[in-house]
Amino acid sequence: MWSDNLLFPEQASTIAAKTDALYFFMIAVSVFFSLLIFGLVTYFAVRYRRRSELEVPRPLIGSLKLELTWTIIPTIIAMGMFVWGVMLFFQISRPPSDTLDMLVVAKQWMWKIQHPSGQREINSLHVPVGQPVRLTMTSEDVIHSFFVPAFRIKMDVLPGRYTVAWFEATKPGRYHLFCTEYCGTKHSEMIGWVTVMDPVQYERWLSGASGEPLSVSGRKLFEQLRCNTCHNETSGARGPNLAGLWGRDVRLQDGRTVTADQAYIRESILNPGAKIVAGYSQLMPTFQGQISETGLLQIMAYLESLQATADAQGSEERIASNE
Ligand code: CUA
Repeated sequence: MWSDNLLFPEQASTIAAKTDALYFFMIAVSVFFSLLIFGLVTYFAVRYRRRSELEVPRPLIGSLKLELTWTIIPTIIAMGMFVWGVMLFFQISRPPSDTLDMLVVAKQWMWKIQHPSGQREINSLHVPVGQPVRLTMTSEDVIHSFFVPAFRIKMDVLPGRYTVAWFEATKPGRYHLFCTEYCGTKHSEMIGWVTVMDPVQYERWLSGASGEPLSVSGRKLFEQLRCNTCHNETSGARGPNLAGLWGRDVRLQDGRTVTADQAYIRESILNPGAKIVAGYSQLMPTFQGQISETGLLQIMAYLESLQATADAQGSEERIASNE
């Protein structure tokens, strides 16, 4: 509908039409009230103008009915927009569970993207149509922002933190990717394309590119950095066993409990002294400067895969003990 319209980009994701509906509703309300107010100001200025030097206006007597009307109607409209906006916001900010998970690392001035199966791309992203895609994003330097107008998604990409965006493309095609946070000299060149393909084409594209699954790269890095000399399954190991850690609550030496999420794992690798697990002492050196942002994310993918294995084993054991 919008494809030949210069003002509006195409609607190419599941939330695009919903976002536009709210946007147009708010525009319509604003236009309606602007016209109403300006119209009435003009009308009253003419209708009640002072007709002679001697004219004295009649005293004003308030009207409760009028006061209630112009308080209640705008309140209902404003609350309607608020509730509508919140519902849409939750939908946009909560990825569904069956997503294809991509890593996005921004740096001056490019987008580096890695697929779950290991394929890497720069300034381009290939996705299948009709499949929710989740982007876990971070930056190697300054703040950037990931913006695909046709999908109506925009999310800041921050150094030292992980942000998430998701979309489900509805139409095959090529769509603009922009950086929308001023990030230095070549900010305007930090652009790319999102290519939406039908699933068969996507599989063919994947098989044409080389790469190994993220969790495999993560395991290799884990061994290469010798993390496994301390973090292993033997009892009395110097570091906590990491199998089954992902997403779980961890008790710390100082009595606090934290969730083992991306931020916690990142901090534990780069600044190991910040949060010591109960029962262990601070022996681990920092890996600041020895591991890239992509490397951190690969190690997280590895830990997440250990979690899946641990879950599977756990349920097998439960089944076995029930028998
Ligand atoms: Cu990156 Cu602007």
